[in-house]
Amino acid sequence: MNILKEEDFIRLYTFIQKKYGINLSKKKQLIEGRLNSTLFTMGFTDFSEYVDYILTKASEKDIEVMLNKLTTNYTYFMREKVHFDFFTHTILPALVKNKKDKVLSIWSAGCSTGQEPYTLSILIKEFLGKEAPLWDTRVLATDISQKVLLQAQKGVYPQDSLKDMPSEWVRKYFRRVGNTDQYEVTPELKANVIFKTFNLMDPIQFKIPFDVIFCRNVMIYFNQPTKDALVNRFYNSTKPGGYLIIGLSETINKNSSNYKYIMPATYRKI
Ligand SMILES: C[S@@+](CC[C@H](N)C(=O)[O-])C[C@H]1O[C@@H](n2cnc3c(N)ncnc32)[C@H](O)[C@@H]1O
Repeated sequence: MNILKEEDFIRLYTFIQKKYGINLSKKKQLIEGRLNSTLFTMGFTDFSEYVDYILTKASEKDIEVMLNKLTTNYTYFMREKVHFDFFTHTILPALVKNKKDKVLSIWSAGCSTGQEPYTLSILIKEFLGKEAPLWDTRVLATDISQKVLLQAQKGVYPQDSLKDMPSEWVRKYFRRVGNTDQYEVTPELKANVIFKTFNLMDPIQFKIPFDVIFCRNVMIYFNQPTKDALVNRFYNSTKPGGYLIIGLSETINKNSSNYKYIMPATYRKI
C-alpha cells in the first residue's frame, strides 16, 4: 500500500477544502485507504505524483472520482422525518395560503441519489391533491457529484429502501421494474424534480429566491468559516419568511447568521 506523506496530505486536503469546502484535515487514513486503488488504476507510482496531478491538470471527471471516494453520499427515503412533518403541516399550508403566483420554490441542496427531493415532491403533490396541476411544484435538486445525480435521475431504488414510506405512496409514485425487487419513480414524479450539478462553494445564482432550502447532512464536511459563508449565501437566496432546514446533527452559528432559530435544525428568515 502507498503511504501518504504529511506534505502531500496537507497539499491535498488544502486544495479540497478551498475548492469544494470539504474538510478532510483529520482524515489522513481515510484518504490513504480510499485513494490507493485510484492511484493504481490511474498508473501513478506514489501519492506525490497523484497529488501533483490533481492540483495542476486533473480533469473534472478525475476530481469527481476522487471526491466520490472521499465523501459519503449516504441518504435514504424519509430521513429525519420530523422535517417532512414540519414541511407538510406548517410550511406548506402557510405557503399555499399566501401564494398568488402559485409557484413553490423548494431546493434540495446536496440531494445525493434523489431520495430527499423525490420525497419533497411527493409531499407537495399529496398536499395539493387535485390542485397540484395548477401549481408550479418543481423541486430543484443539486449535488456536486455527477455520479449520484445520474442515479437520482434514473430513480431506481431497491424495494427495501421504500419500507418507511406509506404503501399508498409507493403504489402511486413508483413502478416495479419487471420481476425484480427494484422500484422506479414514475415519469410524472421525475418530471417534478429538476436535477442540476452545483458546487455549494460557488455563488448562488438561481433565477428566483427559495421558499425553503433543505441542506441536510452536507455541511458536516465543511469547517466553520465555510459553513458560515454558505449559510449567509443561503440567507440571501431565501425569500422573506422562508426556511433553511439542515441535518439534525448539525447547527448553525447564531452569531454569524440572521436566520431565526425555529426548532432543531430549522431556521427562518424573518
Ligand atoms: C450525506 S449526502 C446528504 C443527502 C441528503 N441531503 C440527506 O440528508 O440524506 C451529502 C451530499 O452532499 C454532497 N456535497 C458535498 N460537498 C458538496 C459541495 N461542495 N457542493 C455540493 N454538494 C456537495 C455530496 O456529494 C453528497 O451527495
